[in-house]
Amino acid sequence: MTAADTPAPKQKISLEVNGEPRTVSAHPMARLLDVLRLDLQLTGTKEGCGEGECGSCSVLIDGVLVNSCLVPVLQAAGTKILTIEGLSSSAGQLHPVQQAFLDCGGAQCGICTPGMILAAVHLLAKNPSPDLAAIREGLSGNLCRCTGYMQIFQSVSQAAKRLTSP
Ligand code: FES
Ligand code: FES
Repeated sequence: MTAADTPAPKQKISLEVNGEPRTVSAHPMARLLDVLRLDLQLTGTKEGCGEGECGSCSVLIDGVLVNSCLVPVLQAAGTKILTIEGLSSSAGQLHPVQQAFLDCGGAQCGICTPGMILAAVHLLAKNPSPDLAAIREGLSGNLCRCTGYMQIFQSVSQAAKRLTSP
């Protein structure tokens, strides 16, 4: 093994996850997805392709939707990360987008669902009343093998109505 083959030593990396300051000891190039799931036990973030193609691993970093399988944890140091676990209230009440997915059958096997919901939250923060085309576009980075998408789009539309109704 040459020096170039030697993995970088672990570093203490601090980040904020779902409103809580967290520090992990991790290789700087470890995937944020693995740090969330394995180090922080936040297994709501799912791995699908592991290659940036499916969106199952989506999280928000400083409000930006990203595929956590592509993000080295060092790149997330000092940022604010929102995962699916951070959406419901501390009293356990579901976020309106989560509730709409439940009510409209937007989840089947559930692998894509956390990423879909975070993509929808991201979309609705930018566009509170999206039409179908905007919903399709907003969720275009997230793949689902089960639902045929219509229930997912209906879920987002329903969530938008609930969030904007007085
Ligand atoms: S697991 Fe990250 S995009 Fe598919
Ligand atoms: S609900 Fe199974 S992949 Fe979407």
